[in-house]
Amino acid sequence: MPKSQIVGTGSYVPDKVLTNRDLEKLVETSDQWIVDRTGIRERRVAAEGEAVSDMAVVASRRALEMAGLRPEDLDLIIVGTISADMPLPSAAAFLQAKLGAKNAAAFDVAAACAGSLYGMSIADKFIAAGASKRVLVVGVELLTRLVDWSDRNTCVLFGDAAGAMVMVPSEGGHGILSTHLHTDGTTAEILYIPAGGSRTPASERTIREKLHCVKMNGREVYRVAVRSLTEALAEALAANKATAGDLQHVISHQANLRILEAVLKRFDIPMSKCWINLDKYGNTSSASLPMTLDEANRAKRLKSGDLIAMMAIGAGMAWGSALVRW
Ligand code: ACO
Repeated sequence: MPKSQIVGTGSYVPDKVLTNRDLEKLVETSDQWIVDRTGIRERRVAAEGEAVSDMAVVASRRALEMAGLRPEDLDLIIVGTISADMPLPSAAAFLQAKLGAKNAAAFDVAAACAGSLYGMSIADKFIAAGASKRVLVVGVELLTRLVDWSDRNTCVLFGDAAGAMVMVPSEGGHGILSTHLHTDGTTAEILYIPAGGSRTPASERTIREKLHCVKMNGREVYRVAVRSLTEALAEALAANKATAGDLQHVISHQANLRILEAVLKRFDIPMSKCWINLDKYGNTSSASLPMTLDEANRAKRLKSGDLIAMMAIGAGMAWGSALVRW
């Protein structure tokens, strides 16, 4: 039986649109290459001065409104992000202050694109243990500030966004049936930001060499992502004695259309069951999963009792899956 359920969803994207054609003017690339290799057509870019907590607060207010709760009702806020307003303190602390959620403890989870799925799993366990009753889980990322705009391997992929979910104790058999989380830290250097931490603090050299930007081995990420998401989805189904045919929806982190197609093909799940928005927003990292859930929810695609598989993977590599009875 589920212990927690999602009763509110919200999302936010900045207004500024950056198309593949715009990118053709920045790096040697083409709309055709980006669409064929990733499925991405355009992405959103945060306004100057806009930070992660500014985006998170809009998505959070929308989720709270849907849940019929006030910020003071929250007892926990978990933010999945690797692009917090500042290295110290957490983005969750700024979000808590902006919301006026004075009764909530707040912290960040650094699991990159899997951050919101990790946050959802932690929230589920806090609620199951009786430690929390009203939890806000946010995935928010401003990766356009962390990419090297002269590196065509990475700058075409990412976009800025926020997604939020409000979770409360389960009623009537609705909610999170299972979550499974995994990490393989031996793959850390296929997707990482080498400088700016305690290993290589900021210096003139690190800035000159753009070591504060995302570095990626795209082929390796692709290989690990397809294998890991396939295993995670199989694990979620097996843990619930369900089959792929029982699923009404797949709500996934969207890194790349080809990754999703490769995973779903292994289960014979039609792409029509998977809500896709990366053509409009690119890879929005931890925001991707809750933002997609919100879009599908507000489009009234999710019916009470539907079985939803969720999955996400990001730098670490860190990944996981969840099965949800809506
Ligand atoms: N435009 C044009 N050419 C490009 C671009 C670009 N934007 N980027 C790379 N290329 C070039 C490469 O330099 C290479 O040229 P070369 O053969 O002369 O060296 C050529 O295209 C082919 O490169 P590949 O790496 O073989 O291309 P591939 O088919 O693997 O596609 C891609 C690259 C799209 C990055 C793919 O590897 C991928 O999707 N990987 C997953 C990465 C990902 O999703 N990361 C997101 C973050 S992690 C996450 O969210 C899970």
